[in-house]
Amino acid sequence: MTEKNQNAESDQPSVGTIENEKYLNQPSGGTIENEKYLNQPSGGMIENEKYLDRALLEYCNSDAYPFHMPGHKRQTMGNWNCEAIDITEITGFDNLHHAEGILLEAQQRAAQTFGADESFFLVNGSTAGLLAAVCGTVKKGGRLLMARNCHKAVYHAVYLMELQTEYLYPEQTEFGIQGSIAPEQVQRMLEQYPDTQAILLTSPTYDGVVSDIAAIAEIVHAHQIPLIVDEAHGAHFGFSERFPKKAISYGADLCIESVHKTLPAYTQTALLHYRKNPWVDLERVKRYLGIYQSSSPSYVLMAGIDRCTRILREQGTTLFAAFEQQLHDFYQSCENLQYISVFPENGNDDGIWDRDSSKILICAEAVGLHGQDLADLLTQKYHLELEMASGHYATALTSIMDTKEGFDRLFAALEEIDQSFHDGSDDLEKENGQQIFTTDAIYRPAKKVMKISEAMDAPKEKVKLLESAGSVSGEFVYLYPPGIPILAPGELVTPEILDALATCQKRNMEVQGMKDFSGIWLEICQDNVS
Ligand SMILES: Cc1ncc(COP(=O)(O)O)c(C=O)c1O
Repeated sequence: MTEKNQNAESDQPSVGTIENEKYLNQPSGGTIENEKYLNQPSGGMIENEKYLDRALLEYCNSDAYPFHMPGHKRQTMGNWNCEAIDITEITGFDNLHHAEGILLEAQQRAAQTFGADESFFLVNGSTAGLLAAVCGTVKKGGRLLMARNCHKAVYHAVYLMELQTEYLYPEQTEFGIQGSIAPEQVQRMLEQYPDTQAILLTSPTYDGVVSDIAAIAEIVHAHQIPLIVDEAHGAHFGFSERFPKKAISYGADLCIESVHKTLPAYTQTALLHYRKNPWVDLERVKRYLGIYQSSSPSYVLMAGIDRCTRILREQGTTLFAAFEQQLHDFYQSCENLQYISVFPENGNDDGIWDRDSSKILICAEAVGLHGQDLADLLTQKYHLELEMASGHYATALTSIMDTKEGFDRLFAALEEIDQSFHDGSDDLEKENGQQIFTTDAIYRPAKKVMKISEAMDAPKEKVKLLESAGSVSGEFVYLYPPGIPILAPGELVTPEILDALATCQKRNMEVQGMKDFSGIWLEICQDNVS
C-alpha cells in the first residue's frame, strides 16, 4: 500500500498523517484537467529534454523515502491545489510588507504558537531572517561575535555589512561531531572584545547539538547586547518534552527557525521570532526584512506556514506523541547493531549540552565505511535518501510526518548492512585502519588575515587549491550541506586545511563555494601570500 493510500484509509491521526484538513481539500475553478497536452511533444521541443516538473513527478512516483528536509516528507496534506490559491496582494489578503489584516493575524498566531512576542513570515528561508537579524543589529563595520560553525548566510551578512568577526569555537566531543558553545567562552570573548554589538550562534546544529542558551543569554545581556540564535534546525523544539525548549524561551532576543526543515511546511518557509528586549531595534530589523524578502511573497508559502501553525495547535500533541514513540522504538532497535553505531537517543557526550534526537547520526566507520559511502549505499540499494553525509557518519532527518514504514525501512536496511559486515558478505570498498575523519579534522581553527569583505572584493588570482598553502583565500570553501565554511575569504590557507579538503574530495564529499565547480582552482587574494 502506498503512503498516500494508508493515510487516506486511516481514521486516526498517526505519525505522518494530518487529520481532517477538509477545508483545504476542495480546490476549484480554473483547474486544468488532465494535463495531457502538456506532455505531448510539440513544435520546438527537443526530444529527450528533461523538464524539472516531469523529473519531479517521475521521482515522486518512485519508492524513494525522504530522510531529509522538508519536514512534510513529501506527503500530501489535504490535496492543496497550488495554482488555485496562488494570488497576489488582492483585496482582503493583506501585504506581508505592510501587514495589518490576515497576514498580521497569521503572524500573531505564529508568535503565540511558537512562544515569541512577535514573529515574521520568511519566504526566503532562514537565510533572509539571518541576513535581516545581523544587518538589523550590528552597524556597518561593527563587530559580531559569532560561532565559527555558523551557516554561510551569516557570513554573507558579515560581507554585506563589512563586519569584523570574532569566533566562538564549538567544544570537542567523543563522537567526533562539533559540540556546544561553552558559556565561559562567550564570557571570555566578550571581555576581550567589549565593542561587540551582537552575538550569533547556531543551536541546534545540523547534528542536533544544542548550546546552553539560558546561561549564554545571561552573560550576553549583562553586556547589554542582543543574542541571536540560528535555530533553523529546531522549529519543532518546544512542542514536546522530548525535544529541547526553544531558544526564545531561554532568553534569546532574535531567533530564526526554518519551519520547512523539521515541520510540515514548504521549502523556503521560515520564521523570525522576536522577544521584547531593550537591545534590538525591531524597526531596523523589519527594514532589512523588507530588503531581503521578495516584494511578491508567495501566498502558497505563507499559507503553508499558517497551515503548519494550525497543525501544531490542533494536532501537535498527538503527532508528537506518536513521533516520540516511533523514534524511541527505532533507537532501541539500533542498540542491537554490532558494526553500525547510531548516536544514542539520550546520550549526551562531553561537550554537548543537549541534543535533538530527531536527527539520527549513523556511523559505520568502525568497519571502514565512510559517511558518504554509507549514505550512497542507503540511496542506491535501499532507496533511502539521507539529508547529509559527513566524514564518518551520515544523517537521517526525521519529523512528525515520517511514517512507520519509513522507520522500518531504515532499520531493515541498517540491519542488513550490519549483518553483511558480520558475514563478510558485503562487497563494499572500505578503508580499514584509516584514522576516523571526525568533524574536528574537517573544521580547523581559522587564522584571519583580512576582513571577509576586504578579501571578497580584493584583486584575485587563481591557483591550484591543493597548492595554495600560505595564501589568503578569496573565496568560501564549504561542504554543502551543511554550508559551514571550512575556509572563509580572508583566512590563511594552511597545510592542515588542505589535508582536510583533499580527504573530503577523495571521499566524494560535496566541496563547494569556489567559482571553479570542479574544485581544482581556488581564488586567492593577490599580494597576500605569506
Ligand atoms: C544552520 C543553518 N542556518 C540557516 C540555514 C539556512 O536556512 P534556509 O535554507 O531556510 O534559508 C541553514 C540551511 O541549511 C542551516 O543549516
